[in-house]
Amino acid sequence: MLYLIKLLIPLLLLTTFIPNTTQTQLTVAPTADVTTQKCDDSFGLQRNVLERRFSTKTPYRAIANYNDTSPIYNGCHPTRIWSIIRHGTRNPSKSVILHAKTRLVELQSLILQQIKPPAHLCADDLKQLRRWNWDHIEPDDEKLLVAEGEDELIELAERMQLRFPKLLPDLYNPEWYYMKYTATQRTLKSAQSFATGLFGRHRIHAITYPQPLKRDPVLRFYKLCSRWKTDVDKNPETMFNARSFYAEPAMQSAVEQVRSSTQLSDELTDEDVQLMYTVCAFETAWQRHKSPSVWCRFFDVHSLSALEFAEDLEYYWNDGYGYDLTHRIACPAIADMFATTDTPGYRANATFYFTHSGTLLKMLAHLGVARDERPLTHKDFGKDRLWRTSEIDAFATNLAFVRYDCIEKEPQVLVMHQERVVRLPGCPQDDDLCPLSTLRRNYADSVERCDFEALCQAAN
Ligand SMILES: *[C@@H]1O[C@H](CO)[C@@H](O)[C@H](O)[C@H]1NC(C)=O
Ligand SMILES: *[C@@H]1O[C@H](CO)[C@@H](O)[C@H](O)[C@H]1NC(C)=O
Repeated sequence: MLYLIKLLIPLLLLTTFIPNTTQTQLTVAPTADVTTQKCDDSFGLQRNVLERRFSTKTPYRAIANYNDTSPIYNGCHPTRIWSIIRHGTRNPSKSVILHAKTRLVELQSLILQQIKPPAHLCADDLKQLRRWNWDHIEPDDEKLLVAEGEDELIELAERMQLRFPKLLPDLYNPEWYYMKYTATQRTLKSAQSFATGLFGRHRIHAITYPQPLKRDPVLRFYKLCSRWKTDVDKNPETMFNARSFYAEPAMQSAVEQVRSSTQLSDELTDEDVQLMYTVCAFETAWQRHKSPSVWCRFFDVHSLSALEFAEDLEYYWNDGYGYDLTHRIACPAIADMFATTDTPGYRANATFYFTHSGTLLKMLAHLGVARDERPLTHKDFGKDRLWRTSEIDAFATNLAFVRYDCIEKEPQVLVMHQERVVRLPGCPQDDDLCPLSTLRRNYADSVERCDFEALCQAAN
């Protein structure tokens, strides 16, 4: 029940806010003319429709599992956990910040200068658009974790602790907990926020973390793989499908829809539409209690889904199933999971790693999660697909392996992605638990023959 209440609070706040702002607005709006409409819920997309289509900029709250009941498996109890977690909601990259401060400001004035503003914008939208600026954010703030990101990690830790209270005691002990982050502010802050959720705000200073690395061989293996960098990450071919999708009818009509909703038919480029989508995503993700970003007002559900699909294509080919090398190089992280899960006394009972999207996606593909039968191409928009980055790679995306020791069975592993049980390929499909030995056998090839050096040696 509690999770229902948690979901309702933001909705209640929203509905109480809107009438107020509308009222004050109507008396001051200088450009409001006869076509300007009053705001009500029938305009624009609802928060829950918007928020789950932001690809890797999806806020975790849109996909979290608020059921924090402990899973119970008779005769078995959890003894170890190994979990890898993407940092929470952050600022955009430098390039997006700069473009928002220049090009988006231009588009803003072009829209506001129109004698008749777009009819679908209500008075409150126009006020929001008039007030909109990014003066509060500088290029040097790029990728910093924001307040929403802290809350995501705090709340995730609280739910994990409720599910596994014995495994995650609320008193910190370095023998019990091993926590590591990469050498970035966003994963450091994510680790501290997660620790806050487990131990409380005043007890996180005692935590000892190992030396953070920019290129951690387990947390960020791909940064050490020069062959992946040249063959995949920096290879123009990788972007072929995402790029080709822009010429497809679905994307062309998405761009047309935004051209028409902004009334900027001549000016608006594909890149402008992408920029509007990105800013719509970030601004909406940042604020759970405010109404969504005004930039989202120019998209309908079809155009939003097309932009989401373009992102899915990019990540599929850059960090997912697209090329074998990409997911094969996740073997050091999988090997670390097995070492921790299967070696009594090795390190700690609870391991938490705070890292990046690139790591989580490659691990998911290594494990066989969200694998479609055929490679995803620019021709596949509108078909069913499992590869949905909004669902599998939101901010604070998490993957956990929980070891269970059992009275009458060999050790088992519960695998969770986004706090939900996943049954991996090769594991029993009628049971949440997978025997540790089965799991080991399934990934033996990749783990025992994980010759990272040989895989990653540049081809030339
Ligand atoms: C909540 O999670 C528990 C443990 O996984 C499960 O047994 C229960 O069915 C779930 N409840 C709902 C309403 O889904
Ligand atoms: C912690 O891990 C060890 C194995 O290394 C296990 O024997 C022990 O039972 C675990 N503690 C708890 C309370 O689960």
